[in-house]
Amino acid sequence: MSTQRTIAVLPGDGIGHEIMAEAVKVLENINTRFGLGLNLEHALVGGSAIDAHGSALPEATFELCARADAILLGAVGGPKWDKLPVAERPEKAGLLEIRRRLDLFGNLRPAILYPQLANASSLKPELVAGLDILIVRELTGGIYFGQPRGIRILENGEREGYNTYVYNESQIRRIGKVAFEAAQKRGGRLCSVDKANVLEVTMLWREVMDDMAKDYPDVELSHMYVDNAAMQLIREPKQFDVVVTGNMFGDILSDAAAMLTGSIGMLPSASLDVNGRGMYEPCHGSAPDIAGQNKANPLATILSVAMMLRYSLAEPDAAQAIEDAVSKVLDKGLRTGDIFSPGNTLVNTVEMGDAVIAAL
Ligand code: NAI
Ligand code: MG
Repeated sequence: MSTQRTIAVLPGDGIGHEIMAEAVKVLENINTRFGLGLNLEHALVGGSAIDAHGSALPEATFELCARADAILLGAVGGPKWDKLPVAERPEKAGLLEIRRRLDLFGNLRPAILYPQLANASSLKPELVAGLDILIVRELTGGIYFGQPRGIRILENGEREGYNTYVYNESQIRRIGKVAFEAAQKRGGRLCSVDKANVLEVTMLWREVMDDMAKDYPDVELSHMYVDNAAMQLIREPKQFDVVVTGNMFGDILSDAAAMLTGSIGMLPSASLDVNGRGMYEPCHGSAPDIAGQNKANPLATILSVAMMLRYSLAEPDAAQAIEDAVSKVLDKGLRTGDIFSPGNTLVNTVEMGDAVIAAL
């Protein structure tokens, strides 16, 4: 019997409540079945926290996140809070604040195409069948956070916008470590994406990755310029195993890779700190267009539970059991609206969650 571990459960807003209810059902089931000793504690974040407490990240919520062994988050935001100043909105003041304050710099975004969903991809089935890529994105540095930044007025009265693209060596090394170790656990190939032909910051990035490769003789490191990487992801996506890149390039490439798999409703993610503690969440947002209708696909969140068990809780068997159950449900032809195609059985959010539990 393991010792008691705490999971912070933050449903958030919109479909966050619906998908989290299903993910929690699955997690509680697996917790009992495998005797994991997990203690789930719920808290508000995002718009629902603004409504209840006037802040997107109440101190009690942050305190729970800070002491939890892992955090499971649904999604935040919605039209109701869009009129607030950016700094107070659910996304910036809730989600990004957790990432920043806990230094969750290592973002893992797998893009896996389930063979049962080959028709849902925007590419031809033969190009994507069996696709299994892991994009490792640096999440708390780079041009999204670099100083100085702003919009200034020049002497001639014209306005000028500017941001700073900056990474220091230790920031590059710590994301490199996450990526090299992930490659060791997978197919042994790592592609580092940069723009080293133009940007000094990524020339340093490339040098550091090359230097680190000496410590990982079992990983084959290659480099690619980001413009070519965008092209190669669409041309021949299966050439990639693990991809590592900075914050902005990773933001763009991981969204592109997501679409290769058909639906954002299938994609989990992890954001880790230096100790491997992390926050797990689906890649999608709060989907206000379908919120409250029992239509959302809960599988991205259920697969995030599996990632959490694998990466932060060292419970690979429990993680595998969930992933196998999801695969079985897809084999049976059960589909929420976002992955539905004729010949399959349309199910709602709750029915999908129930089906995963039945398949466990
Ligand atoms: P979105 O991901 O919420 O929705 C995009 C489209 O995908 C919508 O048509 C939606 O119905 C569909 N979709 C998303 N998740 C789905 C699921 N599980 N099952 C079925 N269909 C699904 O992105 P959008 O519309 O740009 O943003 C909506 C709100 O979410 C905004 O307030 C935005 O700021 C916020 N957001 C929050 C994120 C987070 O919490 N991590 C990430 C992205 C957006
Ligand atoms: Mg994005």
